[in-house]
Amino acid sequence: MTTLVAKFRIVVGTLALFALLVGVQPVSAQQPTRVDPQASSVKEEQLFREFNRISGRCTIPDQKACTVEQPAGRDWRYFHGVTLRWIGGIAILGVLAALVVFYLWRGMVRIESGRSGRTLVRFNAIERFVHWMTSTCFIVLAISGLNITFGRPLLLPLMSPEAFTAWSEWAKYAHNYLSFPFTLGVILIFFMWIAGNIPNRVDVEWFKRGGGIVGHDHPPAYRFNGGQKMIYWIVVLGGSAVAVSGYVLMFPFYGTDIHNMQLAEITHGIVAMLFVAAMLGHIYIGTIGMEGAFEAMGEGTVDLNWAKEHHSLWVEQEKARTGPNESRRQTAATPAE
Ligand code: HEM
Repeated sequence: MTTLVAKFRIVVGTLALFALLVGVQPVSAQQPTRVDPQASSVKEEQLFREFNRISGRCTIPDQKACTVEQPAGRDWRYFHGVTLRWIGGIAILGVLAALVVFYLWRGMVRIESGRSGRTLVRFNAIERFVHWMTSTCFIVLAISGLNITFGRPLLLPLMSPEAFTAWSEWAKYAHNYLSFPFTLGVILIFFMWIAGNIPNRVDVEWFKRGGGIVGHDHPPAYRFNGGQKMIYWIVVLGGSAVAVSGYVLMFPFYGTDIHNMQLAEITHGIVAMLFVAAMLGHIYIGTIGMEGAFEAMGEGTVDLNWAKEHHSLWVEQEKARTGPNESRRQTAATPAE
């Protein structure tokens, strides 16, 4: 009997062991046999699809850092890496190409009656200082800003990563610090030249006649013509838009949320690209596009015949103010051609 019980125990024990092994087998068979390299990104995609954002718990005080990905983030990344590059590329290269074609077709706008040899004060020292301070800051801001948008695809392949990092770091410092004199310049320009830049009927006529630079016409204009008034308002409004959006970016989350930050970056990027494109036109007409224009901002004076051809109503005003034969200051420094 004892032997029978012992044999029964052995059989039951063997069966139990077998059942255990069979039961365990399928579980171990479900284990992956190799590592799936896509596993983590698949999980990220799933999480993003299911919850619309990926966030977790973190121990640092700034709880915003716990959100790794949120819906508008991808749209913003696409804007920054693709859309803005297209907008900037088309606007800047488009204007450059148009200017080259225009120059080849029209050439420099000459002083058609030749130089008179008498000059007239156009901008005083303070006006010229504010102009050059603002424009120098603008050029540095434009180059350092364009580096943020285009530096990686255009410059990085041409230099070592270390050199690109060092340049980008300095460019970013310049972008941050020069924003202050630039903003001051835009404010000063607004007050300094607002009186001469209110649009009026003379400007409508000026535009209708192609500003005198498309053909060889000389439509009348006061101190600032329609084209210059356009540049003035682009600087004042565009400058204000880049300044406000830029400071939102520079001081993140001070009264703003992630949505406002993304909006600020989009506004800043688009306005900046259009601003650069518009300023290329301004630089063109102030240098190789028109004879006698650069000296207005360089030395502060213009030739009387230049003034008569491009700003005839202003010359009349100056004469009425200072007497028929005297302008604000006349010199015979420049000989007639
Ligand atoms: C008060 C003036 C300005 C301030 C405070 C400012 C500030 C900023 C800040 C904080 C950024 C973000 C940088 C980053 O992502 O690390 C930025 C980007 C940028 N800025 Fe400015 N900026 C100003 C003026 C300008 C001007 C005048 C231009 C050009 C005309 C310009 C062009 C750009 C461009 C192209 C970007 C890169 C946009 C992108 O790729 O998303 N900025 N700026």
